[in-house]
Amino acid sequence: MNLEERFYQEFGIKSEYKYRAPARINLIGEHIDYNGGKVLPCAISKYITALVSKRNDNIISISSTEIDKHFELNLSCIEYQKEYDWGNYVFGMFYTLLNEGYNISCGLNILVSSDIPLASGLSSSAALLDLICFLTNDIFNLKIENRDIAILAQKCENDFCGLKSGIMDEAAIALGKENKCMLLDCAKFEYKYYNLELNDYSFVVLKTNKPRKLVESKYNERVEECTKALNILKPIYDIENLCDLSTTELVNIKDYLNDDLLYRRVKHVITENNRVNEFIKALQDRKIDHLANILNDSHLSLKNDYEVSGMHLDAIVESAIHAGALGSRMTGAGFGGCAIALIKKSDFNGFKAKVEKEYFEKTNIIPDIFVVKIANGPKVLNNSKKP
Ligand code: GLA
Repeated sequence: MNLEERFYQEFGIKSEYKYRAPARINLIGEHIDYNGGKVLPCAISKYITALVSKRNDNIISISSTEIDKHFELNLSCIEYQKEYDWGNYVFGMFYTLLNEGYNISCGLNILVSSDIPLASGLSSSAALLDLICFLTNDIFNLKIENRDIAILAQKCENDFCGLKSGIMDEAAIALGKENKCMLLDCAKFEYKYYNLELNDYSFVVLKTNKPRKLVESKYNERVEECTKALNILKPIYDIENLCDLSTTELVNIKDYLNDDLLYRRVKHVITENNRVNEFIKALQDRKIDHLANILNDSHLSLKNDYEVSGMHLDAIVESAIHAGALGSRMTGAGFGGCAIALIKKSDFNGFKAKVEKEYFEKTNIIPDIFVVKIANGPKVLNNSKKP
């Protein structure tokens, strides 16, 4: 049964609109978007798709082809409820738009279908938020720019869903460009694109198949630790964000903080921001070995100082290096999920087999390893109701 038939089966009418939004990977700049840092993500060719039809009432009715749960809510009384599960991202986006004064004149039937693995660090939730905002914008002609879609989606994730995330995922998805990575200055929300043409080399995604656990609580804990450190350092350095600090200050910062855990968190943040600048230089100079070393340093910093990796991510990164990757690191929030590796394109099959073997020996889990294309942001696939 195709998606259109499934929609008909679910809602008893034909769908009128079809949209999709991509997932993302982050090449470098991890856990620094909420510290005013620079990050380098790109949208990838894994997608969440939505079929939609308008309703005659004010009900938002949602179904998913992956999760067998159907939810309905009236636009006039949306509230967060744990049992709505993924539905909170959909309802929350409508809540956020209404709260911001946008006019949504009727309810919708929405069927979503996704090949973005859930809870895997590829931002399935930001993709869903961006997608819902994008389709609502299109259907009701709300005139929201893609840049503002990212801001609204982040607002929803922070205020409605309760994750104190930065802007990276929503921006990477809303503003994704084919074959380009996006250097995003999260303090200013300024961005520019760089070609990701690596000739014989390519990035691959390594999915640990260890679902992320505790990610919300641990993520918010890291945000709080950074806020605590910033509050101590702000009056001393007259800074807005931790990423305004430079690595030369690290020795003094250690004394000022006088707390090993906070120091290690700040050390990661400052050195990671530095790595983003170095990565851009290496990318422009096409220094593949240098790019790879930066990836490896980033992983160590996330593992030892920021402590957001974990047994499975470490095992897959280590297996990737043993299998011939030039560099590898976890990507996204961590605590399970995915890593990326930089490999020689022609080595892919051998690389995949070796990582699968070593990772399985270490964890008893078969990983998924795949090549992705760097993709465009959200797209209208079919819009039968518009001229
Ligand atoms: C999650 C968040 C992002 C970012 C990353 C870590 O994906 O949603 O804002 O903080 O973690 O870099």
